[in-house]
Amino acid sequence: DPMENGMAEEDGKQWFGVTPPDLTLAARHRSADWVYSYLINFYEDDSRPYGYNNHVFPNVGMPHVMAGMQQELSEEEFKSNMGDIANFMTYAAEPMAPTRERIGVYVLVFLGILLIPAYLLKKEYWKDVH
Ligand code: HEM
Repeated sequence: DPMENGMAEEDGKQWFGVTPPDLTLAARHRSADWVYSYLINFYEDDSRPYGYNNHVFPNVGMPHVMAGMQQELSEEEFKSNMGDIANFMTYAAEPMAPTRERIGVYVLVFLGILLIPAYLLKKEYWKDVH
C-alpha cells in the first residue's frame, strides 16, 4: 500500500526550505548507487540549519535522520543498513521488475525456438528459387 506522509507540504517547506520529495521513484530517477552514496555521505557542518551537509547533494534540505544510527553502529553495519534501504527503494520503485525480467527470458527462449521452424520454412519456400 502507498505510504502516506503525515507532514503538510507547506510545513515541510517551512521547516526544511523545500518540501520533502515523494521517494517512490527516486531509486529509478537517481539510481540505487546514487541513493546509497547519498545516504552514507552526510557529514557534520555547523553552517547548515540542522548541522549536517551531504557530499553527494551539497546543501541538502534533508536533516541527517540516520545520525543516531550512524553513531551507534559500526561503519560496516551502517553501510549495510543503507544498502538495504537503497535496495528497498529500488524494489518499491518497480515491484514488478523481477517478473518482467523472468518473462523476458521466456520470450527470448520462445523466439529462439520459433527461429527453427521459421528458418526451415524459409528454406522450403526458397528451395525452388534459383
Ligand atoms: C529513511 C528515511 C529517508 C530516506 C531514505 C530519504 C531519502 C531521501 C532522498 C534519496 C532524497 C533526495 C531526493 C532527490 O532529490 O532525488 C531526499 C531528499 C529530502 N529529504 Fe529525505 N529521506 C528520508 C527521510 C527524511 C525525513 C524523515 C525528512 C524530514 C524530516 C526528509 C526530508 C527531506 C527533504 C526536505 C529532502 C529534499 C532535499 C533538498 O532538495 O534539498 N527525509 N531524501
